[in-house]
Amino acid sequence: MKVDVLLGLQWGDEGKGKVVDYLAPKYNVVARFQGGPNAGHTLEFDGHKHVLHQIPSGIFREQIHNIIGNGVVLDPVIFKKEIEGLAKFEIDFTKNLYLSKKTQIILPSHKLLDAAYEHAKGKDKIGSTLKGIGPSYQDKIARNGLRVGDILAPGFEERYRNLVNKHERILQHYEFEYNLEEAEAPFFEAVEFLKGFNLVNSEYLINECIQSNETILAEGAQGSLLDIDFGSYPFVTSSNTMTAGACTGLGVAPKNIGEVFGIFKAYCTRVGGGPFPTELFDDTGAAIQKEGHEFGATTGRPRRCGWLDLPALNYAIMIDGVTQLFMMKADVLSILDEIKVCTHYKLKDGSITQEMPFQLIDEDVEPVYETLPGWKSDISQVKSFADMPEELKTYIQFIEERTKVPIKIVSVGPDRTQTIID
Ligand code: GDP
Ligand code: IMO
Ligand code: MG
Repeated sequence: MKVDVLLGLQWGDEGKGKVVDYLAPKYNVVARFQGGPNAGHTLEFDGHKHVLHQIPSGIFREQIHNIIGNGVVLDPVIFKKEIEGLAKFEIDFTKNLYLSKKTQIILPSHKLLDAAYEHAKGKDKIGSTLKGIGPSYQDKIARNGLRVGDILAPGFEERYRNLVNKHERILQHYEFEYNLEEAEAPFFEAVEFLKGFNLVNSEYLINECIQSNETILAEGAQGSLLDIDFGSYPFVTSSNTMTAGACTGLGVAPKNIGEVFGIFKAYCTRVGGGPFPTELFDDTGAAIQKEGHEFGATTGRPRRCGWLDLPALNYAIMIDGVTQLFMMKADVLSILDEIKVCTHYKLKDGSITQEMPFQLIDEDVEPVYETLPGWKSDISQVKSFADMPEELKTYIQFIEERTKVPIKIVSVGPDRTQTIID
């Protein structure tokens, strides 16, 4: 079977983890293809909440093959902690988890470089999660990186030392105090721990699954507006978060991509720096943040909140080739009398556009809004499209008309069960 791709269409944290967990029973394979521990994917079921950073969200189903693909950057220390944190599930993760030998490894010194670069940027900092994502992708592209398969070969420690020496030479140029030594013992312990897992050429594994008609879901991290090429550069992450990233990050040919599920919140959030045209600085923004518990799953930072932005959503739909939309957190908007949606941008010269400008700068784009009525009722227990309040149906219809993509799932709460499917 072809590979279905599930992606965030905004600035991350759209609810990807919840939906992957919900859809997982339909799939034989769930694969992560980019990003790393900057991701925080939340799953809630049976009264418990779990946040996964690097491990695919199909991990709780023993029969599913979970793959960490070559496009990912992996922190072994965080990986070990994550696995140990899941001990109570009594799942043998050495059986249902596979790591690509081509996955890049995040070293402790990558995290130091991340912090040094951010510190040096001052007020222009990206707001990185400080997990070493940018520096490890930098080393990948510069052809310096160490990969998971390298830990099996002799001389790994020497190669590690050579790369760290390079990093230390860079760090000397920054006014930045650090202690690398204390991070090294846990790092090498975690590298040993990694050896207990299935380290494979995952491009063969996944293409064999395609050939044998298995169902495969590629789980995106971050969101399309954080994409290194098409996001709000430079306030982006360092990987291709878009559909094409699933091809390069797993070794899947474009002709083998099937459905593309685009996940978006019924409003917008962003954590970290960077432009956000529809951001709310008033009581409504604060109310959405409170009702939606909008605090980062990885860093705990408050998420900035604002109205749904259709030019940005349509841009993501275009570059990703989205075939189905899933709307998340509709229940959060139940508190509002009316809901605004940005349909166009008004530019500095007075012109109106639906296109994303080359450089998204808040001061240069004024959102043009349409206002829709709120539904002002508890929808957290609604089970079908038919039972939705009329105002919610109108909201859904409005978005479908403006995006020309059907909304197939509406999520009305964090739990697995609070999911309405068309
Ligand atoms: P991800 O990074 O895309 O997986 O999203 P996160 O897990 O970082 O953030 C989404 C947050 O919203 C998590 O706390 C989820 O439990 C929660 N969530 C997901 N769907 C819904 C929903 O429909 N309603 C509400 N109220 N919360 C949701
Ligand atoms: P999930 O998968 C939200 C943001 C950071 C920062 C920028 C660059 O949970 O949706 P990085 O650490 O990648 O160098 O940070 O990207 N960011 C995310 N925001 N959700 C994420 O992942 C994110 N991963 C990175 O806040 O602004
Ligand atoms: Mg998240």
